[in-house]
Amino acid sequence: METLFIGSNCIFLTEIDSTNSYAIELLKNVNIIDGTIIHTHHQTKGRGQRGNAWVTEKASNLTLSVVLNTHNIQANKQFYLSKCAALACYDLMAHYLNKSQYDIKIKWPNDILVNKKKIGGILIENIYKGENLKNSVIGVGINLNQKHFENVNNATSLAQLGYEINLNLALEQFCKYFEKYILLLRQNKLNVINELYFNNLYGYKALHSFKINNVIKQLKIDTVYENGKIALLDENGLLFVFENKEIQFVF
Ligand code: BTN
Repeated sequence: METLFIGSNCIFLTEIDSTNSYAIELLKNVNIIDGTIIHTHHQTKGRGQRGNAWVTEKASNLTLSVVLNTHNIQANKQFYLSKCAALACYDLMAHYLNKSQYDIKIKWPNDILVNKKKIGGILIENIYKGENLKNSVIGVGINLNQKHFENVNNATSLAQLGYEINLNLALEQFCKYFEKYILLLRQNKLNVINELYFNNLYGYKALHSFKINNVIKQLKIDTVYENGKIALLDENGLLFVFENKEIQFVF
């Protein structure tokens, strides 16, 4: 791996229930080297956001967790990890796809879209120590070579767009991009991360339909706070702040 620390220690499991669950269990018992990657070709009980399952075809996609030492990150700033992971996924998609042909976006809080369809997702689980984090498990699933998706709405993959991807190279590439952003975070270059994140955020500063308590409203994303909450503006300039599960984008 051409990286300083992300992926220097790489654990490959032929089959596992969930790379995130495996990492969390491991953290209970041993110290894990900062930047360790756990990846598999067969995840049998993958977990997604909002308690959903993450179902992925065998040996087709990127299915990995990165374990980071995050004791320097305050708990109320944890969303920077999500921004870093989303930007790394964004860069990986931009590495394969021509940006003038494909619209690659980060959808708050942690989906990656290509032409408004979901190509990847992120699930971050933290272990806390006081006001700070201690360790974070950054789980990433990106659809690369899977052609068909059953019972999943609005999913896509690079295969559906006509590409066939070498999984090992994609993993290495992801590690390089993710490391770039984690180094920026560790150097406290938050403005650089924020600028890139907001530049590539789906629906940023533009009116969009959201479903809130079963009512559809036209709102603009005003900002995303460091704790991950989103601020939406209505036509009268009123600001509403929401957490992940409280709103849904309507396409
Ligand atoms: C989502 O969009 O709902 C998040 C999906 C995250 C899936 C990845 S796959 C690797 C890691 N292990 C898991 O069980 N989940 C994450």
